[in-house]
Amino acid sequence: MKDFDGLKAVVTGGASGIGLAAARLLAERGARVAVLDLNPDDVPPPLQGYRADVSDDASVVAAISDAAGALRGIDVLVNNAGIGAAGTVEDNDDAEWHRVLDVNLLGVVRPHAPGDAMTSPLFPAPDTAAPVFADHHDLRDRNRRAVEQYMLTGAEARLRRYTLYTEDGSASLFYTDMGRPIVVRGREKLKRHGELSMQVLPDWQWSDVHIYQTQDPSVIWVECEGEGTILFPGYPQGRYRNHFIHGFTLSDGRIVASREYTNPIEHMRALSIETPHIERDWIPS
Ligand SMILES: NC(=O)c1ccc[n+]([C@@H]2O[C@H](COP(=O)([O-])OP(=O)(O)OC[C@H]3O[C@@H](n4cnc5c(N)ncnc54)[C@H](O)[C@@H]3O)[C@@H](O)[C@H]2O)c1
Repeated sequence: MKDFDGLKAVVTGGASGIGLAAARLLAERGARVAVLDLNPDDVPPPLQGYRADVSDDASVVAAISDAAGALRGIDVLVNNAGIGAAGTVEDNDDAEWHRVLDVNLLGVVRPHAPGDAMTSPLFPAPDTAAPVFADHHDLRDRNRRAVEQYMLTGAEARLRRYTLYTEDGSASLFYTDMGRPIVVRGREKLKRHGELSMQVLPDWQWSDVHIYQTQDPSVIWVECEGEGTILFPGYPQGRYRNHFIHGFTLSDGRIVASREYTNPIEHMRALSIETPHIERDWIPS
């Protein structure tokens, strides 16, 4: 596990220079990072760029709110955006010095967001009143922790994911075109699968992760979003986004079986495969 796994960070002025270096380092060490900049299109993945001018309050508050929504909270803020006046004191008039102060000084106090968006637990409780299960407290805790570890997306966490399984544990993907799931069984194959998945989905991120415990302490469900670059052999590189459901069966803090369900059509789109169309005009959507 990396030291910033699970942390959400915002870096202002992170599209170049010192800010970009700081944002990259945070991401490499496990944080999910949003960058606020005048030039968000220059921001490379896995960093997420948001357009903002730190001298314009409305644009900063809007971008911070969007970033906090996407990251589900903000734990770290790096106030890096800044400019310098060119030339000597005489070369610049009052208006230029006010502009520098506006960006460099007031730009530091502007990044804020309504409510409690600036702080967040890693996996927030669902908004609705969650059932409280009083039985098997320690066992539920161990099982939930394994699921939380599974959902971490830093490279190290992904490469060590196989260690969360029992010796003959299995991971199944249910969105296949074969009428049956693909099942990867046993730690050795799970390890290899983890290494390969780093190659084909190198910057994969889960977000909006909701963990649901059930009456059965050994069964946990997760609903979340997922996004990243997709590099499947034999297909053009694409950007893959989807909505996911994960089912887990656990035994004493270890995963016996994980089952992943998602929309196969989105998967096909990301791979540039032509997708079928179903007429559903009759649905009053
Ligand atoms: N490089 C140095 O030697 C040095 C020395 C002292 C202080 N600093 C300060 O460190 C910070 C980063 O410096 P750098 O050299 O990486 O600069 P840089 O010019 O390479 O990067 C600054 C980034 O901030 C963004 N930015 C500028 N004005 C902005 C605004 N109003 N709103 C949002 N984004 C804005 C730019 O688009 C750019 O991506 C700055 O605050 C700078 O003043 C740098």
